Amino acid sequence: MLGRVLIIDDNPGVGQALALLLSLHDIASVHAATPEAGLAVLAREPVDLVIQDMNFSADTTSGEEGAALFRALRERAPDLPVILLTAWTRLEAAVQLVKAGAADYLAKPWDDAKLLATVQNLLELGQNNRELARQREERRERRLRREALAARHDLRGVVHASEAMGRVLELACQVARADLPVLITGPNGSGKECIAAVLHANSGRAQEPFVAVNCGALPGELIESELFGADSGAFTGAHKARAGRFEAAGAGTLFLDEIGNLPLAGQVKLLRVLETGRFERLGGSRTLSSRARVLSATNADLKAMVREGRFREDLYYRLAVIEIAVPPLAERRDDILPLAEHFLAGRATLDDGARDALLAHAWPGNVRELKNAIERATLLAAGGVIGADHLALPPAVPPAHRSLDEPSREAVVAALAQAQGVVSRAASALGLSRQGLYRRMDRYGLQADPASH
Ligand SMILES: Nc1ncnc2c1ncn2[C@@H]1O[C@H](COP(=O)(O)OP(=O)(O)OP(=O)(O)O)[C@@H](O)[C@H]1O
Ligand SMILES: [Mg+2]
Repeated sequence: MLGRVLIIDDNPGVGQALALLLSLHDIASVHAATPEAGLAVLAREPVDLVIQDMNFSADTTSGEEGAALFRALRERAPDLPVILLTAWTRLEAAVQLVKAGAADYLAKPWDDAKLLATVQNLLELGQNNRELARQREERRERRLRREALAARHDLRGVVHASEAMGRVLELACQVARADLPVLITGPNGSGKECIAAVLHANSGRAQEPFVAVNCGALPGELIESELFGADSGAFTGAHKARAGRFEAAGAGTLFLDEIGNLPLAGQVKLLRVLETGRFERLGGSRTLSSRARVLSATNADLKAMVREGRFREDLYYRLAVIEIAVPPLAERRDDILPLAEHFLAGRATLDDGARDALLAHAWPGNVRELKNAIERATLLAAGGVIGADHLALPPAVPPAHRSLDEPSREAVVAALAQAQGVVSRAASALGLSRQGLYRRMDRYGLQADPASH
Protein backbone atom coordinates (compact mmCIF):
# COMPACT_ATOMS: atom_id res chain seq x y z
CA MET A 1 0.00 0.00 0.00
CA LEU A 2 1.55 3.24 -1.18
CA GLY A 3 -0.53 5.50 1.06
CA ARG A 4 -3.90 6.93 1.96
CA VAL A 5 -5.59 9.76 0.08
CA LEU A 6 -8.30 12.06 1.41
CA ILE A 7 -10.66 13.22 -1.35
CA ILE A 8 -12.67 16.35 -0.50
CA ASP A 9 -15.27 17.05 -3.15
CA ASP A 10 -18.99 17.75 -2.89
CA ASN A 11 -19.70 15.69 -6.01
CA PRO A 12 -20.15 12.02 -5.01
CA GLY A 13 -19.43 10.98 -8.60
CA VAL A 14 -15.97 12.55 -8.41
CA GLY A 15 -15.31 10.82 -5.09
CA GLN A 16 -16.30 7.44 -6.44
CA ALA A 17 -14.38 7.76 -9.67
CA LEU A 18 -11.21 8.82 -7.87
CA ALA A 19 -11.56 6.14 -5.20
CA LEU A 20 -11.91 3.47 -7.87
CA LEU A 21 -8.97 4.73 -9.90
CA LEU A 22 -6.75 4.84 -6.81
CA SER A 23 -7.86 1.47 -5.44
CA LEU A 24 -6.95 -0.14 -8.77
CA HIS A 25 -3.41 1.04 -8.12
CA ASP A 26 -3.17 -0.09 -4.54
CA ILE A 27 -3.87 3.32 -3.02
CA ALA A 28 -6.46 3.63 -0.25
CA SER A 29 -8.76 6.62 -0.09
CA VAL A 30 -11.48 8.19 1.99
CA HIS A 31 -14.08 10.60 0.65
CA ALA A 32 -15.48 13.70 2.37
CA ALA A 33 -18.24 15.81 0.80
CA THR A 34 -17.58 19.09 2.64
CA PRO A 35 -14.53 20.97 3.84
CA GLU A 36 -15.65 20.44 7.46
CA ALA A 37 -16.02 16.70 6.95
CA GLY A 38 -12.61 16.62 5.28
CA LEU A 39 -10.93 18.41 8.19
CA ALA A 40 -12.67 16.03 10.59
CA VAL A 41 -11.22 13.03 8.72
CA LEU A 42 -7.78 14.62 8.85
CA ALA A 43 -8.06 15.13 12.60
CA ARG A 44 -8.98 11.52 13.15
CA GLU A 45 -7.22 9.33 10.59
CA PRO A 46 -3.83 9.01 8.94
CA VAL A 47 -3.76 10.85 5.61
CA ASP A 48 -0.79 11.00 3.25
CA LEU A 49 -2.23 13.23 0.54
CA VAL A 50 -5.32 15.36 -0.13
CA ILE A 51 -7.16 15.84 -3.41
CA GLN A 52 -9.52 18.79 -2.96
CA ASP A 53 -12.10 20.54 -5.03
CA MET A 54 -12.10 24.34 -5.35
CA ASN A 55 -15.85 24.99 -5.06
CA PHE A 56 -18.37 23.42 -2.75
CA SER A 57 -21.59 25.34 -3.13
CA ALA A 58 -23.52 24.93 -6.35
CA ASP A 59 -23.66 28.67 -6.91
CA THR A 60 -20.02 29.56 -6.34
CA THR A 61 -17.17 29.27 -8.79
CA SER A 62 -14.77 31.79 -7.32
CA GLY A 63 -12.54 29.17 -5.68
CA GLU A 64 -12.78 31.05 -2.37
CA GLU A 65 -13.99 27.97 -0.55
CA GLY A 66 -11.19 25.91 -2.00
CA ALA A 67 -8.64 28.50 -0.93
CA ALA A 68 -10.07 28.59 2.60
CA LEU A 69 -9.96 24.79 2.80
CA PHE A 70 -6.40 24.73 1.52
CA ARG A 71 -5.34 27.24 4.19
CA ALA A 72 -7.08 25.21 6.88
CA LEU A 73 -5.28 22.05 5.71
CA ARG A 74 -1.94 23.88 5.67
CA GLU A 75 -2.48 25.10 9.19
CA ARG A 76 -3.20 21.61 10.49
CA ALA A 77 -0.66 19.68 8.44
CA PRO A 78 1.98 21.92 6.85
CA ASP A 79 3.77 19.06 5.07
CA LEU A 80 0.72 17.28 3.72
CA PRO A 81 0.72 17.40 -0.10
CA VAL A 82 -2.49 18.83 -1.56
CA ILE A 83 -3.65 18.41 -5.18
CA LEU A 84 -6.32 20.87 -6.34
CA LEU A 85 -9.09 19.89 -8.72
CA THR A 86 -10.58 22.79 -10.61
CA ALA A 87 -12.68 23.60 -13.63
CA TRP A 88 -10.35 24.34 -16.51
CA THR A 89 -12.02 27.73 -16.92
CA ARG A 90 -11.01 28.68 -13.37
CA LEU A 91 -7.37 27.78 -13.25
CA GLU A 92 -6.18 31.10 -11.91
CA ALA A 93 -7.25 30.51 -8.28
CA ALA A 94 -5.54 27.11 -8.29
CA VAL A 95 -2.35 28.52 -9.76
CA GLN A 96 -2.26 31.01 -6.89
CA LEU A 97 -2.53 28.19 -4.38
CA VAL A 98 0.28 26.24 -6.02
CA LYS A 99 2.40 29.34 -5.48
CA ALA A 100 1.26 29.22 -1.86
CA GLY A 101 2.49 25.65 -1.50
CA ALA A 102 -0.12 23.30 -2.98
CA ALA A 103 1.60 20.34 -4.62
CA ASP A 104 -0.18 20.54 -7.97
CA TYR A 105 -3.48 21.23 -9.67
CA LEU A 106 -5.47 19.32 -12.26
CA ALA A 107 -8.25 20.63 -14.47
CA LYS A 108 -11.58 18.79 -14.49
CA PRO A 109 -12.20 16.56 -16.28
CA TRP A 110 -8.86 15.15 -15.25
CA ASP A 111 -6.62 12.82 -17.15
CA ASP A 112 -6.46 9.54 -15.17
CA ALA A 113 -2.88 8.71 -16.11
CA LYS A 114 -1.61 12.15 -15.20
CA LEU A 115 -3.51 12.25 -11.92
CA LEU A 116 -2.27 8.81 -10.99
CA ALA A 117 1.35 9.67 -11.79
CA THR A 118 1.11 12.84 -9.70
CA VAL A 119 -0.44 11.00 -6.75
CA GLN A 120 2.07 8.16 -6.93
CA ASN A 121 5.03 10.50 -7.08
CA LEU A 122 3.82 12.58 -4.17
CA LEU A 123 3.06 9.53 -2.03
CA GLU A 124 6.44 8.07 -2.78
CA LEU A 125 8.17 11.35 -2.02
CA GLY A 126 6.33 11.42 1.29
CA GLN A 127 7.51 7.91 2.07
CA ASN A 128 11.06 8.84 1.12
CA ASN A 129 10.95 11.86 3.38
CA ARG A 130 9.51 9.89 6.25
CA GLU A 131 12.14 7.19 5.80
CA LEU A 132 14.93 9.76 5.69
CA ALA A 133 13.52 11.51 8.74
CA ARG A 134 13.37 8.17 10.51
CA GLN A 135 17.00 7.45 9.62
CA ARG A 136 18.03 10.91 10.77
CA GLU A 137 16.18 10.39 14.03
CA GLU A 138 17.82 6.99 14.47
CA ARG A 139 21.26 8.49 13.91
CA ARG A 140 20.46 11.31 16.31
CA GLU A 141 19.36 8.87 19.01
CA ARG A 142 22.47 6.80 18.48
CA ARG A 143 24.63 9.91 18.74
CA LEU A 144 22.90 10.98 21.96
CA ARG A 145 23.39 7.52 23.41
CA ARG A 146 27.03 7.62 22.36
CA GLU A 147 27.55 11.00 23.96
CA ALA A 148 25.79 9.93 27.14
CA LEU A 149 28.00 6.84 27.37
CA ALA A 150 31.16 8.84 26.70
CA ALA A 151 30.16 11.42 29.31
CA ARG A 152 29.79 8.81 32.03
CA HIS A 153 32.65 6.49 31.10
CA ASP A 154 36.21 6.42 29.90
CA LEU A 155 35.90 4.81 26.46
CA ARG A 156 39.65 4.87 25.86
CA GLY A 157 39.20 6.53 22.52
CA VAL A 158 37.31 3.58 21.08
CA VAL A 159 35.62 4.84 17.92
CA HIS A 160 32.11 3.62 17.27
CA ALA A 161 29.06 4.66 15.32
CA SER A 162 27.26 1.38 14.73
CA GLU A 163 24.39 0.09 16.78
CA ALA A 164 26.28 -3.18 17.37
CA MET A 165 29.42 -1.55 18.75
CA GLY A 166 27.29 0.82 20.84
CA ARG A 167 25.76 -2.22 22.50
CA VAL A 168 29.15 -3.84 23.05
CA LEU A 169 30.49 -0.72 24.77
CA GLU A 170 27.35 -0.24 26.84
CA LEU A 171 27.64 -3.81 28.04
CA ALA A 172 31.36 -3.36 28.76
CA CYS A 173 30.71 -0.23 30.81
CA GLN A 174 27.85 -1.91 32.60
CA VAL A 175 29.91 -4.90 33.74
CA ALA A 176 33.20 -3.04 34.20
CA ARG A 177 32.67 -2.48 37.92
CA ALA A 178 31.52 -6.02 38.67
CA ASP A 179 34.41 -8.02 40.03
CA LEU A 180 33.74 -10.90 37.69
CA PRO A 181 35.78 -12.50 34.95
CA VAL A 182 34.83 -11.43 31.42
CA LEU A 183 35.52 -13.38 28.26
CA ILE A 184 35.87 -11.19 25.18
CA THR A 185 35.33 -13.02 21.92
CA GLY A 186 35.70 -11.86 18.35
CA PRO A 187 37.79 -12.29 15.22
CA ASN A 188 41.34 -11.04 14.72
CA GLY A 189 41.81 -7.32 14.91
CA SER A 190 38.21 -6.57 15.85
CA GLY A 191 39.15 -4.63 18.98
CA LYS A 192 39.08 -7.19 21.80
CA GLU A 193 42.04 -5.63 23.54
CA CYS A 194 40.36 -2.22 23.28
CA ILE A 195 37.36 -3.65 25.13
CA ALA A 196 39.63 -5.10 27.80
CA ALA A 197 41.12 -1.63 28.27
CA VAL A 198 37.62 -0.13 28.62
CA LEU A 199 36.70 -2.77 31.21
CA HIS A 200 39.80 -1.96 33.25
CA ALA A 201 39.50 1.82 32.94
CA ASN A 202 35.93 1.79 34.20
CA SER A 203 36.45 -0.70 37.01
CA GLY A 204 37.26 0.12 40.61
CA ARG A 205 40.78 -1.08 39.76
CA ALA A 206 41.59 1.61 37.23
CA GLN A 207 44.44 2.91 39.42
CA GLU A 208 45.93 -0.58 39.78
CA PRO A 209 48.06 -2.29 37.12
CA PHE A 210 46.70 -3.63 33.84
CA VAL A 211 48.82 -6.60 32.87
CA ALA A 212 48.36 -8.34 29.51
CA VAL A 213 49.70 -11.80 28.72
CA ASN A 214 49.52 -13.36 25.29
CA CYS A 215 48.95 -17.03 25.94
CA GLY A 216 49.70 -17.84 22.33
CA ALA A 217 53.15 -16.31 22.30
CA LEU A 218 54.97 -18.75 24.56
CA PRO A 219 55.31 -22.54 24.65
CA GLY A 220 53.70 -24.58 27.43
CA GLU A 221 56.09 -24.50 30.35
CA LEU A 222 57.15 -20.92 29.73
CA ILE A 223 53.62 -19.63 29.72
CA GLU A 224 53.07 -21.20 33.14
CA SER A 225 56.12 -19.54 34.57
CA GLU A 226 55.09 -16.32 32.87
CA LEU A 227 51.71 -16.45 34.59
CA PHE A 228 52.58 -17.87 37.98
CA GLY A 229 56.29 -17.10 38.30
CA ALA A 230 59.09 -19.52 39.06
CA ASP A 231 61.44 -20.12 41.94
CA SER A 232 65.08 -20.70 41.10
CA GLY A 233 65.77 -24.14 39.76
CA ALA A 234 62.15 -24.66 38.78
CA PHE A 235 63.24 -25.77 35.35
CA THR A 236 66.36 -25.76 33.23
CA GLY A 237 67.45 -22.20 32.70
CA ALA A 238 65.48 -20.79 35.62
CA HIS A 239 68.39 -19.47 37.61
CA LYS A 240 66.67 -16.69 39.43
CA ALA A 241 63.37 -16.58 41.25
CA ARG A 242 60.94 -14.60 39.21
CA ALA A 243 57.48 -13.20 39.92
CA GLY A 244 54.73 -14.09 37.47
CA ARG A 245 52.05 -11.91 35.92
CA PHE A 246 49.48 -12.77 38.55
CA GLU A 247 51.79 -11.21 41.11
CA ALA A 248 52.52 -8.25 38.84
CA ALA A 249 48.83 -7.58 38.38
CA GLY A 250 48.36 -7.25 42.15
CA ALA A 251 44.87 -5.93 42.76
CA GLY A 252 44.58 -4.80 39.14
CA THR A 253 43.46 -6.54 35.97
CA LEU A 254 45.12 -9.51 34.34
CA PHE A 255 44.25 -9.78 30.66
CA LEU A 256 44.80 -13.24 29.22
CA ASP A 257 44.86 -12.82 25.47
CA GLU A 258 44.42 -15.81 23.16
CA ILE A 259 43.29 -17.91 26.10
CA GLY A 260 42.46 -20.75 23.69
CA ASN A 261 46.20 -21.37 23.36
CA LEU A 262 46.76 -22.07 27.04
CA PRO A 263 47.88 -25.72 27.35
CA LEU A 264 45.81 -28.06 29.51
CA ALA A 265 48.32 -28.05 32.40
CA GLY A 266 48.14 -24.26 32.52
CA GLN A 267 44.36 -24.46 32.34
CA VAL A 268 44.27 -26.55 35.51
CA LYS A 269 46.39 -24.03 37.39
CA LEU A 270 44.37 -21.11 36.09
CA LEU A 271 41.14 -22.78 37.15
CA ARG A 272 42.51 -23.17 40.65
CA VAL A 273 43.41 -19.48 40.93
CA LEU A 274 39.98 -18.52 39.72
CA GLU A 275 38.30 -20.84 42.22
CA THR A 276 40.48 -20.32 45.27
CA GLY A 277 42.58 -17.25 44.53
CA ARG A 278 45.62 -19.38 45.30
CA PHE A 279 48.65 -20.52 43.31
CA GLU A 280 52.31 -21.38 43.64
CA ARG A 281 55.26 -20.32 41.56
CA LEU A 282 56.71 -23.10 39.45
CA GLY A 283 59.03 -25.08 41.67
CA GLY A 284 57.89 -23.08 44.67
CA SER A 285 56.32 -24.38 47.83
CA ARG A 286 54.86 -21.18 49.20
CA THR A 287 51.21 -20.62 48.34
CA LEU A 288 50.48 -17.13 47.07
CA SER A 289 47.15 -15.45 46.70
CA SER A 290 45.87 -13.39 43.83
CA ARG A 291 43.52 -10.43 44.04
CA ALA A 292 43.58 -9.72 40.31
CA ARG A 293 40.48 -9.64 38.15
CA VAL A 294 40.88 -11.91 35.15
CA LEU A 295 39.78 -10.83 31.71
CA SER A 296 40.38 -13.14 28.80
CA ALA A 297 40.03 -12.95 25.03
CA THR A 298 39.94 -15.40 22.19
CA ASN A 299 39.20 -15.59 18.51
CA ALA A 300 38.77 -19.35 18.82
CA ASP A 301 35.48 -21.14 19.29
CA LEU A 302 36.06 -22.19 22.90
CA LYS A 303 32.83 -24.14 23.10
CA ALA A 304 33.92 -26.26 20.14
CA MET A 305 37.30 -26.72 21.86
CA VAL A 306 35.46 -27.88 24.97
CA ARG A 307 33.57 -30.45 22.90
CA GLU A 308 36.83 -31.62 21.37
CA GLY A 309 38.44 -31.95 24.80
CA ARG A 310 41.01 -29.25 24.12
CA PHE A 311 39.67 -26.75 26.61
CA ARG A 312 38.39 -27.49 30.09
CA GLU A 313 34.69 -27.00 30.40
CA ASP A 314 34.88 -25.92 34.06
CA LEU A 315 37.48 -23.30 33.16
CA TYR A 316 35.36 -22.08 30.27
CA TYR A 317 32.42 -21.41 32.59
CA ARG A 318 34.68 -19.68 35.08
CA LEU A 319 36.13 -17.35 32.46
CA ALA A 320 32.91 -16.69 30.60
CA VAL A 321 30.76 -15.61 33.56
CA ILE A 322 30.17 -12.61 31.33
CA GLU A 323 30.85 -12.85 27.62
CA ILE A 324 31.25 -9.85 25.36
CA ALA A 325 31.23 -10.67 21.66
CA VAL A 326 32.90 -8.06 19.46
CA PRO A 327 31.36 -8.34 16.00
CA PRO A 328 33.52 -8.44 12.86
CA LEU A 329 33.86 -5.08 11.14
CA ALA A 330 31.83 -6.43 8.21
CA GLU A 331 28.82 -6.64 10.53
CA ARG A 332 29.11 -3.02 11.66
CA ARG A 333 29.71 -1.10 8.49
CA ASP A 334 28.63 2.16 10.07
CA ASP A 335 31.94 2.09 11.92
CA ILE A 336 34.10 1.89 8.79
CA LEU A 337 34.21 5.54 7.75
CA PRO A 338 34.42 6.96 11.30
CA LEU A 339 37.30 4.56 12.02
CA ALA A 340 38.99 5.52 8.74
CA GLU A 341 38.71 9.20 9.65
CA HIS A 342 40.06 8.43 13.10
CA PHE A 343 43.12 6.67 11.68
CA LEU A 344 43.64 9.42 9.10
CA ALA A 345 43.74 11.94 11.92
CA GLY A 346 43.45 14.79 9.43
CA ARG A 347 46.63 13.82 7.54
CA ALA A 348 44.71 13.20 4.31
CA THR A 349 41.14 13.05 3.03
CA LEU A 350 39.18 10.32 1.29
CA ASP A 351 37.57 10.86 -2.09
CA ASP A 352 34.22 9.27 -3.00
CA GLY A 353 35.87 6.33 -4.72
CA ALA A 354 37.94 5.58 -1.63
CA ARG A 355 34.86 5.72 0.59
CA ASP A 356 33.00 3.35 -1.70
CA ALA A 357 35.97 0.98 -1.74
CA LEU A 358 36.21 1.04 2.06
CA LEU A 359 32.50 0.37 2.43
CA ALA A 360 32.49 -2.42 -0.13
CA HIS A 361 35.49 -4.31 1.27
CA ALA A 362 34.84 -7.36 3.47
CA TRP A 363 37.61 -6.59 6.03
CA PRO A 364 38.64 -10.13 6.98
CA GLY A 365 41.36 -8.53 9.15
CA ASN A 366 38.84 -6.19 10.72
CA VAL A 367 39.90 -2.90 12.35
CA ARG A 368 43.59 -3.77 12.25
CA GLU A 369 43.39 -4.31 8.49
CA LEU A 370 41.56 -1.01 8.10
CA LYS A 371 44.17 0.78 10.16
CA ASN A 372 46.98 -0.67 8.03
CA ALA A 373 45.17 0.14 4.79
CA ILE A 374 44.77 3.76 5.89
CA GLU A 375 48.40 4.03 6.95
CA ARG A 376 49.58 2.69 3.59
CA ALA A 377 47.23 4.88 1.60
CA THR A 378 48.23 7.97 3.56
CA LEU A 379 51.84 7.38 2.56
CA LEU A 380 50.94 6.81 -1.08
CA ALA A 381 48.40 9.58 -1.53
CA ALA A 382 49.85 12.53 -3.32
CA GLY A 383 48.34 15.88 -2.43
CA GLY A 384 46.65 14.44 0.62
CA VAL A 385 43.66 12.98 -1.23
CA ILE A 386 43.23 9.24 -0.97
CA GLY A 387 41.57 7.49 -3.90
CA ALA A 388 40.46 3.89 -4.26
CA ASP A 389 43.75 3.07 -6.04
CA HIS A 390 45.80 4.11 -3.01
CA LEU A 391 43.85 1.68 -0.84
CA ALA A 392 44.54 -1.18 -3.25
CA LEU A 393 41.86 -3.35 -1.68
CA PRO A 394 41.34 -6.68 -3.39
CA PRO A 395 37.78 -7.20 -4.61
CA ALA A 396 36.25 -9.12 -1.74
CA VAL A 397 33.38 -10.74 -3.61
CA PRO A 398 33.12 -11.65 -7.28
CA PRO A 399 31.94 -8.54 -9.19
CA ALA A 400 28.94 -10.37 -10.66
CA HIS A 401 27.75 -11.15 -7.20
CA ARG A 402 28.53 -7.71 -5.95
CA SER A 403 26.25 -5.91 -8.33
CA LEU A 404 23.35 -7.75 -6.70
CA ASP A 405 24.47 -7.72 -3.10
CA GLU A 406 26.31 -4.46 -2.80
CA PRO A 407 25.58 -2.01 -5.58
CA SER A 408 28.28 0.63 -5.84
CA ARG A 409 27.48 4.28 -5.29
CA GLU A 410 27.55 4.80 -9.07
CA ALA A 411 25.11 1.94 -9.60
CA VAL A 412 22.72 3.42 -7.05
CA VAL A 413 23.00 6.92 -8.53
CA ALA A 414 22.44 5.55 -12.03
CA ALA A 415 19.41 3.49 -10.98
CA LEU A 416 17.86 6.47 -9.20
CA ALA A 417 18.41 8.71 -12.20
CA GLN A 418 16.93 6.09 -14.50
CA ALA A 419 13.90 5.77 -12.25
CA GLN A 420 13.62 9.56 -12.03
CA GLY A 421 14.01 9.39 -8.30
CA VAL A 422 11.20 6.88 -7.78
CA VAL A 423 12.82 4.75 -5.11
CA SER A 424 10.68 1.64 -5.49
CA ARG A 425 11.47 1.49 -9.20
CA ALA A 426 15.19 2.00 -8.64
CA ALA A 427 15.12 -0.64 -5.91
CA SER A 428 13.57 -3.27 -8.13
CA ALA A 429 16.04 -2.43 -10.90
CA LEU A 430 18.84 -3.13 -8.43
CA GLY A 431 17.17 -6.23 -7.06
CA LEU A 432 16.81 -4.65 -3.63
CA SER A 433 13.90 -4.00 -1.31
CA ARG A 434 12.91 -0.36 -0.86
CA GLN A 435 14.32 -0.49 2.67
CA GLY A 436 17.49 -2.05 1.32
CA LEU A 437 17.93 0.75 -1.16
CA TYR A 438 17.26 3.39 1.50
CA ARG A 439 19.99 1.87 3.63
CA ARG A 440 22.48 2.09 0.74
CA MET A 441 21.37 5.62 -0.10
CA ASP A 442 21.90 6.57 3.50
CA ARG A 443 25.31 4.92 3.54
CA TYR A 444 26.37 6.68 0.35
CA GLY A 445 24.83 9.99 1.48
CA LEU A 446 22.33 10.09 -1.38
CA GLN A 447 18.93 11.79 -1.50
CA ALA A 448 16.00 10.47 -3.49
CA ASP A 449 15.96 13.51 -5.74
CA PRO A 450 18.15 12.70 -8.78
CA ALA A 451 18.74 16.39 -9.42
CA SER A 452 20.88 16.57 -6.28
CA HIS A 453 23.62 14.26 -7.59
N1 LIG B 1 36.76 0.80 17.84
C1 LIG B 1 38.05 1.12 17.70
N2 LIG B 1 38.43 2.40 17.76
C2 LIG B 1 39.73 2.72 17.60
N3 LIG B 1 40.71 1.83 17.38
C3 LIG B 1 40.39 0.54 17.32
C4 LIG B 1 39.04 0.12 17.50
N4 LIG B 1 39.00 -1.23 17.39
C5 LIG B 1 40.26 -1.62 17.16
N5 LIG B 1 41.10 -0.58 17.12
C6 LIG B 1 42.55 -0.62 16.83
O1 LIG B 1 42.75 -1.68 15.92
C7 LIG B 1 43.86 -2.50 16.28
C8 LIG B 1 43.38 -3.89 16.60
O2 LIG B 1 42.57 -3.86 17.76
P1 LIG B 1 42.80 -4.89 18.98
O3 LIG B 1 44.25 -5.19 19.19
O4 LIG B 1 42.02 -4.41 20.15
O5 LIG B 1 42.09 -6.14 18.32
P2 LIG B 1 42.04 -7.65 18.84
O6 LIG B 1 40.65 -8.11 18.64
O7 LIG B 1 42.62 -7.74 20.20
O8 LIG B 1 42.97 -8.35 17.79
P3 LIG B 1 43.73 -9.80 17.89
O9 LIG B 1 42.67 -10.83 17.76
O10 LIG B 1 44.62 -9.79 16.69
O11 LIG B 1 44.43 -9.81 19.18
C9 LIG B 1 44.48 -1.79 17.45
O12 LIG B 1 45.47 -0.94 16.94
C10 LIG B 1 43.36 -0.99 18.06
O13 LIG B 1 43.83 0.14 18.71
MG1 LIG C 1 44.33 -8.78 20.75
